[in-house]
Amino acid sequence: YGDPSQKVDYVFKVVLIGDSAVGKSQILARFARNEFSLDSKATIGVEFQTRTMVIQHKSVKAQIWDTAGQERALLDFHFFLSWTFLVGSTTLKSDYNPSLEGYNVYCRRQTTGNPMYFDRYRAVTSAYYRGAVGAMLVYDITKRQTFDHIPRWLEELRGHADKNIVIILIGNKCDLEDQRAVSTEDAKEFAEKEGLFFLETSALNATNVESAFVTVLTEIF
Ligand code: GTP
Ligand code: MG
Repeated sequence: YGDPSQKVDYVFKVVLIGDSAVGKSQILARFARNEFSLDSKATIGVEFQTRTMVIQHKSVKAQIWDTAGQERALLDFHFFLSWTFLVGSTTLKSDYNPSLEGYNVYCRRQTTGNPMYFDRYRAVTSAYYRGAVGAMLVYDITKRQTFDHIPRWLEELRGHADKNIVIILIGNKCDLEDQRAVSTEDAKEFAEKEGLFFLETSALNATNVESAFVTVLTEIF
């Protein structure tokens, strides 16, 4: 899978995002090492892997970043609780407010909780998207909720990433056709409306995994 000594013309950073357990890490394992594991553990923190491939006669090194969907899902859950935002010396109580971007934001839950949580989340989020030229927005075709959360992921992506970033929507686990909860048409329609590429993949049987990466890397070009 790629000769490490070969010369590299371009290095492209691509980020994987989406809810926990949709298969981000396994899509990456399939792409980078042609591996798959059914008892994959939830990702903690941030990991990345690379694979060099030839696209339009150029050697492109794809640096794929993968992080936990869990932390974000947790944060989403907390949106519905009441949080107190401390912006500088001002205290405001509100729901998540994207316009706080760029401030040193601390967040404290009304009851118990980690007051630094929000701040850490922000720092990690910005670093994760910095320099990314491609993004893969993944949901699980058997879990409707993971598709319903896509607009939030898109909002986070558009809030942090370069405006020219190439985005592909990925409906993973298409091998589980009998458990399908999101129709291909719905996803296609959403992708068209938002100007995203779209493919259904299976990390398990390798369907479209390669194509998804090639689509993004070719478009970045
Ligand atoms: P977080 O790291 O928690 O954000 O999750 P993730 O999106 O990285 O999910 P992960 O890749 O760990 O996969 C979660 C579970 O789904 C694992 O049990 C995988 O084996 C399984 N899985 C991933 N891709 C597929 C697929 O294409 N088909 C099937 N049937 N199962 C899959
Ligand atoms: Mg993972």
